[in-house]
This record gives sequence, C-alpha cells and structure tokens, in this order.
Amino acid sequence: MSDETAAASQAAAGAAAAGSRAPWFDGTLDEAGLQALGRELAAQLTPPAFVALRGDLGAGKTVLARAIARALGVTGTMPSPTYNLLLRYPAAEGREVIHLDLYRLSGPDESSELGWQDLGADHEVVLCEWPERAEGELPPSRVEVQLAALAGEPTLRQVQVQVLGEQPEVRR
Ligand SMILES: Nc1ncnc2c1ncn2[C@@H]1O[C@H](COP(=O)(O)OP(=O)(O)OP(=O)(O)O)[C@@H](O)[C@H]1O
Ligand SMILES: [Mg+2]
Repeated sequence: MSDETAAASQAAAGAAAAGSRAPWFDGTLDEAGLQALGRELAAQLTPPAFVALRGDLGAGKTVLARAIARALGVTGTMPSPTYNLLLRYPAAEGREVIHLDLYRLSGPDESSELGWQDLGADHEVVLCEWPERAEGELPPSRVEVQLAALAGEPTLRQVQVQVLGEQPEVRR
C-alpha cells in the first residue's frame, strides 16, 4: 500500500469510527416531501430501531413520526405524546411503534419510570421527539433526524438524516 493509500484508508476508518459517514438524506422538503421521506425511511427500518427526532417546537417531528408510523401500519388516531410521554401502537407484521415525546421529562427518575431500559425489543420501532432530554440513554445504533425551519420559508424544512452505528439495513 502506498503512503497515500494508507493515509486515505486511515482517514476513512477514522471517519467511520466517529460516525461521520455520509448522511442518508440532506435537503429541503415541504410537508408532503417530509411525509414521503418518512415512508421511505419506514420501509428501510428493521426493528429493533430507534429514530431520534430533533428540532425546535413546530419543526415537524410529529409530522415525520406519524408518517413513519402510518407506513408501518399504525391506524387510528395518533395524539401527540406531549403529556403521556410514551404511546404504543400495534403495527403491521407483529411490530409495535413507540412514540415518545420527552419534552416534559423532569429528570432521571421519570426517565427510568418510563421503562426506558425495557425499550429496544426485537419488534419495536421507537420514534423519539426531544431525545436530548435523555441524551446519555440513547442507543448508540440509531437513526438521527435533524429538522430546522428556514427563514422566510414557512412551508419548508431543512432535513438531515444520519444513520449511526450498525444499521446496515438502512440503505439509500
Ligand atoms: N415542510 C414541513 N414539514 C413539516 N411540517 C411542516 C412543514 N411546513 C409546515 N409544517 C407545519 O409545521 C407544523 C409541524 O408541527 P409538528 O407538531 O410536527 O412539530 P414538532 O416538531 O413535533 O413540535 P413539538 O416540539 O411541539 O412537538 C405542522 O403544523 C405542519 O403542518
Ligand atoms: Mg411534536
């Protein structure tokens, strides 16, 4: 191996170790586009899966969570879990969707009451809004979604999706 090739492969290994692989998606979407992205992502998720949905109030986390859940076969109403923190829904193929909204999480006690450590069963797809409220407890293998408003563009969002850790099934 030439010095140059060795340096390049070392750099690639470093990038992979740091979880800095290319984003699965990076772009600007309207609401319908975000919902379509949710369907595409749902088709690629193999449980146990954990999707961290980040962004300010009104960024579109619930819009995306519902689109993913619907694509996984969740029917009926899906209220926002703002007050319940955790809502479970049966989905297709024996799966279960768990929709979390940790915005009102008061601290580590309430976090353990939520049964956090029991999440991640083989049939579960966890969709988590405000994951930063439990940052240290997130599974290292997860899908990270960042949503952000765009100045002067109320119907558009900047959207970035990144796959962390071993999720070889999530391909693009
Ligand atoms: N491109 C877009 N993507 C998603 N939502 C959009 C978009 N454009 C406009 N919206 C609107 O923005 C709002 C997003 O609300 P949503 O409840 O999904 O936000 P949220 O991130 O879950 O907020 P919260 O932190 O309060 O839970 C909806 O009213 C939706 O119609
Ligand atoms: Mg929400």
